[in-house]
Amino acid sequence: MNKKIKKILKKKNKTKIICLTAYSKNIASILDKHCDLILVGDSLGSVLYNYKSTKEVNLSTMINHSKSVRLGVNKSLMVVDMPYNTYRNPREALKNAKLLMKNSRCDAVKLEGGKKIIPSIKNLVKNNIPVMGHIGILPQTDKKFTFKGKEISERNRIINDAKLLEQAGIFSIVLECIEVKLSREVTKQLEIPTIGIGSSVNCDGQVLVIDDLIGLSQSKFKFVKKYIDVRKNIEKAVKRYKSDVIKKLFPGTKHSFRN
Ligand code: KIV
Repeated sequence: MNKKIKKILKKKNKTKIICLTAYSKNIASILDKHCDLILVGDSLGSVLYNYKSTKEVNLSTMINHSKSVRLGVNKSLMVVDMPYNTYRNPREALKNAKLLMKNSRCDAVKLEGGKKIIPSIKNLVKNNIPVMGHIGILPQTDKKFTFKGKEISERNRIINDAKLLEQAGIFSIVLECIEVKLSREVTKQLEIPTIGIGSSVNCDGQVLVIDDLIGLSQSKFKFVKKYIDVRKNIEKAVKRYKSDVIKKLFPGTKHSFRN
């Protein structure tokens, strides 16, 4: 088993697993020192491309961003999302996961869904491709983005899906917007670590979209905490640059070439 995956598994019930998304080299290289896992999420569809949904993200976009992220990741486990309609059956899943792994040199792939995608997951695991699961809100297929676990039937389905995915061989699972007590229950029932986003402190680890955390995006999700307002700082720098250029303060002699 991949050493980085082993390290993550050992953290269950001990220390929190730190995860963030990255879509390019520069950001990834900052996160790498501090994260256990870096996810090239298909959230890049909305964050970078203004797509209405992640359905529009394709494999080559994921490969290109992953190649860039790979340049910045050394220490962390690098996981890449398989985009919508790339794992509808075991053969398709294997063909596309191999393409992603080969081109991006990522460590693992992430697939969204429960019972329905078990055959695809089993085929990847059988072929030594490490897989991360993702249940709760499923941005690739859900129509409504409301938190999961209101109804008892939904709670049972989520617990059942989580167990089936674990049995299929995933090494970890993202719980997206799952009700507080339900995320505690899923985390308790699984031996593999759960990684929450909008799923309370009850998960083994936490993931956020980096652009949301640093205030580069303008999202206003309830589950996001903005730790810094990077937009404001970029704006300040650009204003100073503009003023310097207008006043002929930049470029100065130290930025110029003279014989
Ligand atoms: O696409 C993504 O960024 C994700 C995380 C939010 C878990 O799946």
